[in-house]
Amino acid sequence: MKAIVLVGGEGTRLRPLTYHTPKPLLPIANVPFLERQLTWLGRHGIDEAVLSLGYLPEAFEAHFASGRFGDMRIRWVIEKEPLGTAGGIGFAAEGIDERVVVCNGDVLTDLDVTGLVRFHDERAAEATIALTRVEDPSAFGVVPTREDGEVVAFVEKPPPGRAPTNWINAGTYVLEPSVLRRIPPRLTVSIERETFPRMLDSPRRLFAQHSDAYWLDIGTPRKYAEAQADVLGGKLGLPPAPGAREHDSGIWVQGDVDIASDARLRAAVLLGTGARIGAGADVAESVIGPGATVESGARVLRSVVLAGARVAADEKAVDVVVAADARLECAG
Ligand code: GTP
Repeated sequence: MKAIVLVGGEGTRLRPLTYHTPKPLLPIANVPFLERQLTWLGRHGIDEAVLSLGYLPEAFEAHFASGRFGDMRIRWVIEKEPLGTAGGIGFAAEGIDERVVVCNGDVLTDLDVTGLVRFHDERAAEATIALTRVEDPSAFGVVPTREDGEVVAFVEKPPPGRAPTNWINAGTYVLEPSVLRRIPPRLTVSIERETFPRMLDSPRRLFAQHSDAYWLDIGTPRKYAEAQADVLGGKLGLPPAPGAREHDSGIWVQGDVDIASDARLRAAVLLGTGARIGAGADVAESVIGPGATVESGARVLRSVVLAGARVAADEKAVDVVVAADARLECAG
């Protein structure tokens, strides 16, 4: 089965990290987010992914230059201008005349895609949406359904306290070719605001399945950090990154690292290949990227230090993301 992955957005809420690296290629616990997503899709029988690109396409082209990720074939299309979610899907689906799985390229999840496809088949649906439950749905598209899962409405960003349900669109869909054909070619169209609501005009076409699987939209700095903590905490299984070994309880290491004998590491921590932790440094609940350095006496707490970055001697990094190759040091 083929998947279309929407990765064309600018990721404005994660600037400045996304000025040079598109959001789907930012690492989550030292693995580019999109690789985690493709691994998840591969587990559910997806053997070809079409990336719907727009912003910084050359970064994806370089990353997937071989056209493969493991056993999966990788293709991409590049939008000349942002086409929105449905426009992006329609453009990527040109030439595809079979059922596809579609997902947003910024949702970390272990949703059961196999179960979603089964649910879709059992109802002979034209489109099926995965739903996840959130405490505050006011920033999301809320999707009330009948008992059997048939969608009854779409409520975009309901005011706090006024949502008909806490179940929101999780950004993973199964779509039949008939839905793909209905997306007007090369126009800016939103699937959640236009395509899906229009399908409610006739009954028994659009369904949604409720899921309690892990789900997190990584699109804000707070959520980006939360995703790393969840992966380190084993919420998506362990080890937190392929090949990482447990050096001590909750302390994970990839490849060769350099840890000073009096440095303090407090779980959960992941150190990437070539990471260096200096004398007397204290690192807790954090990810230290490949080739990154925490200099002597520095303290890193609930933070993400990306590849090649440095936290200067005796500095404190608390609840921060240090961009790749940056140096964190107080001025003056
Ligand atoms: P913000 O600018 O911070 O809102 O992030 P974003 O650009 O990623 O937008 P948003 O989180 O709403 O997008 C959800 C998913 O759809 C992401 O995976 C985006 O990459 C993708 N996306 C958003 N707009 C487009 C688009 O116009 N074309 C394509 N191909 N993908 C899009």
